[in-house]
Amino acid sequence: MSKRHGSYGFDAPGALIGLLLGAIALMALAAVSFALDIVAAGMAFLAGALYTLASAASYLYTTRRGKFAVWAEELRRLGGDERLLDLGCGRGAVLLMAAERLPRGRATGIDLWRSKDQSGNDEATARANAEAEGVSERVELVTGDLRDLPFGEAAFDVVVSSLAVHNIPDAEGRAQAVREAHRVLRPGGLLLIADFQHTPAYEETLRGLGVVDVRRRDAGWRFWYGGPWFATTLLEARKPA
Ligand SMILES: C[S@@+](CC[C@H](N)C(=O)[O-])C[C@H]1O[C@@H](n2cnc3c(N)ncnc32)[C@H](O)[C@@H]1O
Repeated sequence: MSKRHGSYGFDAPGALIGLLLGAIALMALAAVSFALDIVAAGMAFLAGALYTLASAASYLYTTRRGKFAVWAEELRRLGGDERLLDLGCGRGAVLLMAAERLPRGRATGIDLWRSKDQSGNDEATARANAEAEGVSERVELVTGDLRDLPFGEAAFDVVVSSLAVHNIPDAEGRAQAVREAHRVLRPGGLLLIADFQHTPAYEETLRGLGVVDVRRRDAGWRFWYGGPWFATTLLEARKPA
């Protein structure tokens, strides 16, 4: 992975703050229990605090480093001239690494720039990051909803998405986003979705559209948002040619 020059914030900052506050509260309870000589309760609170702190450390690692490392490996397969779309690009973590690998191609990011899903999330920040990474001339940013993509059919060779589709609250909305991703992908094109929830449903939607070349795999510990129970799955599909 090349050195990053932009500034990429924290995914779902509320979840991270919740973990840190939880750890502090559990530590305080442990301290009070030990002060009152209730040793068993103190040990239980201490164990809970350490466990919650470890979850926060895992989350912090993933959002600042791990997801970049995993996507850098996934994007190695780009040939250099593709038209790529990043669904829910946020501040550009994946989009701009892709753009670096597309000297003759184009990378488009679409987002609604919701700051509860990523700290400091806005189009201007993504644009400044594209400048900082030296790829702005081949990056396009679009404000829009994943359920209603403002692009024509078969407009992209590759469609990627990292931890964005699960933010759509209802199952039908998520299925619509997957149908839209499929619509804008050219026949033979590659779809890569990383998410920590709902990937079996994404696969079902794609199979319903006639996509047979689709598989899911674990993205590994570098993509845990707090531990193995918040592991990320990578769904990879190829639209029939
Ligand atoms: C956790 S962030 C991940 C951002 C980026 N993919 C990354 O890995 O750094 C999720 C992103 O999805 C975007 N998002 C959520 N729902 C969306 C929707 N319905 N349409 C477009 N973007 C959406 C949020 O604004 C946010 O930027």
